Amino acid sequence: ESNSFATDFVSSLSVDALTLQKQIDELSTFSDTPAPSVTRILYSEKDVLARRYIKNLMTLAGLSVREDIVGNIFGRWTGHEAELAPLATGSHIDAIPYSGKYDGVVGVLGAIEAINVLKSIWYIDQFSFGLSCADWNFNRYGFKPKRSLEVIMFTSEEPTRFGISCLGSRLLAGSEALAKDLMSTVDSQNISFLDAARSAGYAKEQDDLSSVFLKKGSYSAFLELHIEQGPILEEEGTSIGIVTAIAAPASLKVDFEGNGGHAGAVLMPKRNDAGLAAAELALAVEKHVLDSGSVDTVGTVGILELHPGAINSIPSKSHLEIDTRDIDEKRRNIVVEKIHQSAVSIAKTRGVVLSEFKIINQDPPALSEKLIIEAAEAASKELNLTHKLMISRAYHDSLFMARVSPMGMIFIPCYKGYSHKPEEYASGQDIANGVKVLALTLAKLSLQ
Ligand code: GLV
Ligand code: MN
Ligand code: MN
Ligand code: MN
Repeated sequence: ESNSFATDFVSSLSVDALTLQKQIDELSTFSDTPAPSVTRILYSEKDVLARRYIKNLMTLAGLSVREDIVGNIFGRWTGHEAELAPLATGSHIDAIPYSGKYDGVVGVLGAIEAINVLKSIWYIDQFSFGLSCADWNFNRYGFKPKRSLEVIMFTSEEPTRFGISCLGSRLLAGSEALAKDLMSTVDSQNISFLDAARSAGYAKEQDDLSSVFLKKGSYSAFLELHIEQGPILEEEGTSIGIVTAIAAPASLKVDFEGNGGHAGAVLMPKRNDAGLAAAELALAVEKHVLDSGSVDTVGTVGILELHPGAINSIPSKSHLEIDTRDIDEKRRNIVVEKIHQSAVSIAKTRGVVLSEFKIINQDPPALSEKLIIEAAEAASKELNLTHKLMISRAYHDSLFMARVSPMGMIFIPCYKGYSHKPEEYASGQDIANGVKVLALTLAKLSLQ
């Protein structure tokens, strides 16, 4: 019978799936491209409006809202042992060009809804009177967490504007290198990071970003709800994925320079075509990735720009941005090294200059915390939801939060695994399941 209280608790977790869907739809209208696509770039007008929308929902949920100088947003529900390190959950709402409305968003709006779910379990102590409620920390008004709960909306998980992924969480995790780089980082329009941040109302007087850094132990745990962005859960008909590890990403920027010239007048033997060097490197990326021998190694040339970009002009400059990932860091690093060797040798044989080969980031993978995995598994079981342990092939703010806090992630299925494109979709039912597991896992962890 000691469990009947917990059973009451579990059965009274009720997600307002319709309102949550309405919020997801509403947030998706803050976009620079037409529906169904979503484009929401850091510190743009639409991003600022979307941030206001999130802060408003946090306030309506009774959270006290705070922002740091780069615009990470924190909404806190103070627990009854407020001196303990809080427990945090959250994700991002920025969206890469022409993407969908669920990536990140489910983990922010879903986190606020999880708080609403927990806050609305106020009546339970009446019908559970006399049962063991000591464990659950109810007061006469309902559930109140022991540890404070905090919802975090991270600034710029996506690298779109300034080329660096997980900007907000990387800084929270204490990246001195990033804090320094951002002092001189500019976007493709030559707008500096600081000016962009200021135009959005952040980084007003400061020009030292180290105040963003979190001390280790600031949070007792960090938990992120996210769409899977892969096909496994949907294919298997499994409701919940519990992440055990996040694959290790690396990003590279490469520039070649040649002499360019007239597309008719310069004969082939006289050319040093920067565009062809880029094309050859793109194919070399594919080859090195395939040569790893593992399906877990992936590589993408997502940006390839030619200058001056005219049909009758031999490209005099080319620019590539390369993303490569693996669950095995060593194997990923070998690929990075081989890409570098190829860039050097292609430049040599084609007579172009390799004017830049820059490793933007080369991050190690992160492991989830056993206790958090177990709490999420127990929550899924108690909610009668099928679940499986899996790795995350996409990166997330959790990759960096893991540096300062025990970390875990909850995945929900998404249509055909589609993500980073407008067809991205997750059903209301699956989202509601994810929010329930999140709420129950938070409730459990808030007691630890
Ligand atoms: C970011 O969203 C990524 O995983 O590429
Ligand atoms: Mn994404
Ligand atoms: Mn995401
Ligand atoms: Mn991601």
